[in-house]
Amino acid sequence: YKSWLQYDAIKDVKKQDKLAEWCQNIALYDQSLQVKSAKEELVRGLTSIVGIKPQISNSVNHAIVLSTRETLPKEAIHIEAQRLEDLNDEGFIIESDLQTKSVYLVGNSPTGVLYAVFRFLRDIQRDQEIHSFNVIDRPRNQIRMMNQWDNMDGSIERGYAGQSIFYKDNEFRKDLERVKDYARLLASVGINAISINNVNVFEVETHLITKRFLPDVAEVADVFRAYGIKTFLSINYASPIQIGNLATADPLDEQVKAWWKAKAQEIYDFIPDFGGFVVKADSEHRPGPFSYGRDHADGSNMLAEALEPFNGIVIWRCFVYNCLQDWRDRKTDRARAAYDHFKKLDGQFRENVVLQIKNGPMDFQVREPVSPLFGAMEQTNQVLEFQVTQEYTGQQKDLCYLVPLWKEVLDFNTFANGGNASVKSIIDGSLYDNKYSGIAAVSNIGDDENWTGHTLAQANLYGYGRLIWDPELSSEQIADEWIRLTFGEDRQVNDSVYPMLLHSWSIYENYTAPLGIGWMVNPNHHYGPNIDGYEYSVWGTYHFADWQGIGVDRTVKSGTGYAGQYFSPNAKMYESIESCPDELILFFHHVPYTHRLKSGETVIQHIYNTHFKGVEQVEELISTWEKVKGRIDGERYHNVRERLDMQLSNAKEWRDMVNTYFYRKSGITDEKKRTIY
Ligand code: GCU
Repeated sequence: YKSWLQYDAIKDVKKQDKLAEWCQNIALYDQSLQVKSAKEELVRGLTSIVGIKPQISNSVNHAIVLSTRETLPKEAIHIEAQRLEDLNDEGFIIESDLQTKSVYLVGNSPTGVLYAVFRFLRDIQRDQEIHSFNVIDRPRNQIRMMNQWDNMDGSIERGYAGQSIFYKDNEFRKDLERVKDYARLLASVGINAISINNVNVFEVETHLITKRFLPDVAEVADVFRAYGIKTFLSINYASPIQIGNLATADPLDEQVKAWWKAKAQEIYDFIPDFGGFVVKADSEHRPGPFSYGRDHADGSNMLAEALEPFNGIVIWRCFVYNCLQDWRDRKTDRARAAYDHFKKLDGQFRENVVLQIKNGPMDFQVREPVSPLFGAMEQTNQVLEFQVTQEYTGQQKDLCYLVPLWKEVLDFNTFANGGNASVKSIIDGSLYDNKYSGIAAVSNIGDDENWTGHTLAQANLYGYGRLIWDPELSSEQIADEWIRLTFGEDRQVNDSVYPMLLHSWSIYENYTAPLGIGWMVNPNHHYGPNIDGYEYSVWGTYHFADWQGIGVDRTVKSGTGYAGQYFSPNAKMYESIESCPDELILFFHHVPYTHRLKSGETVIQHIYNTHFKGVEQVEELISTWEKVKGRIDGERYHNVRERLDMQLSNAKEWRDMVNTYFYRKSGITDEKKRTIY
């Protein structure tokens, strides 16, 4: 339940004595809400880690000093707080002072102080000596957001860890303790924004912006505010009709505009620092401006205008595509959709509209190219959307540590703006100097005791926050941090869990959909194999396998033209079979089973090999996990063991179905003569 905020007692007696000497007191030089949370966390952490309850004092001696730059006391004149000047609002320093035996945690804002405390607690549990802190830190991305896909009946869309911690039976939960603990977890890794309801806004949730629920939303916002997190709501685009008694939701209609303006005023009366709206419009049967012959600039600008007087923003999702495609129609390509809809609107959005773009052009598959929209809209604010919840990556039954995937996305060079333009430089706002930018992700938590169903899936939530705070951190560093904070300082545990996490994405890819083709999952719930599950459906997600070959031709020359949406030289790289990377070959090309990959294997042999290997690797995961038995508590041991057993049967199912399917289609036998049915 505490996940990475375990705060285990330090076992090394010498280290503990020293910490006790330095941490006797907490000196508070700021009384704001977030600094109070910081103090509370520090007391909790030190009591548990060091075994002493620090006193609140007004002297800097033998104290952990919590202060913002402005409120720093005169005695602290020697502290180099001016170093903070170059940092953003949320930056902080941590500096030890040998003379007074104190440590200064100084933020540019109260939330900066809070972040400093979490960093301090994290560091003293690992290798940092108390007397030699010399840290200067700041988040690299501005908006660092969590999207809850929680419904008010308590269910969570694509949730794999129990019910909502926010709602039950179409009401807010009365007890917000769990929400507070979630706020602590999020703040500890630097998350500063949250939308608290599903992007699919149904009947009851449409009323979240009415007097019926706004007092409750305000209470939740109070909890998050104390941890530096702004609250947002997903809204129903048809609200003016459904709750406003208007005949239309047309964004250019004067009455509609006036309705949203009044609505914004009402919301801000309850929550003065409300973040704004998240909007899924004209997407998967949700209402939107298309119904009125308007485009997405018209649609979002109208809402933005209503929020502008209050500094609110509109986060408008780009997940817009035809979800009623005829599978016989070979011209329409879902991958093209976001770019085709939005690129042409560049320059037409108001200053407080931010487009939210999924990392890939399809939908959070185990392997996809990076969305070509990144970098393509020079005059438009963008946030990237990841999915921490593992809809297509094992649903928190199968292990899949996603940080390496996210890192690949952030590091990808789009070649926008004539050269070196990584995705991370676009979404941190630096490339085009955007007013708003950042990252959002769909959460993976629920009311399960361990938050995430699979205990090791906590590493994804932790890793998401850490990575977007600092995209230069490596997947390895993040895994190491998480393991040590979660399971304590035990080499053997670390040596086991670490490789498990780091190999898990590639293992999952091995036994599921090959070479970037995606899907092949059971329709609707999306767990487990079903090769043709979506092949003759309306969703635009096809593999086109026949007896000769497989893959989607997305080239400009002979296919859907999708490859041409990239900047050069990426467009060229994907266009040609020779230069297209193996792992995406079937995303961009339709090739014969006998096509030889750069690895030297044929496509069909690659499919057989990876699927056999994937299952063997899951067996290894199990034997590796057995090494931690007895070294961690039984509850967490059993939870993971149980999940690994489920993963093994899932992997076998995938292996045998995929191999059998392609053997039967192609008639080509496995070179190694292993069992295929
Ligand atoms: C996926 C997912 C849906 C979700 C949608 C979205 O398609 O399966 O449950 O609503 O993405 O991101 O809006």
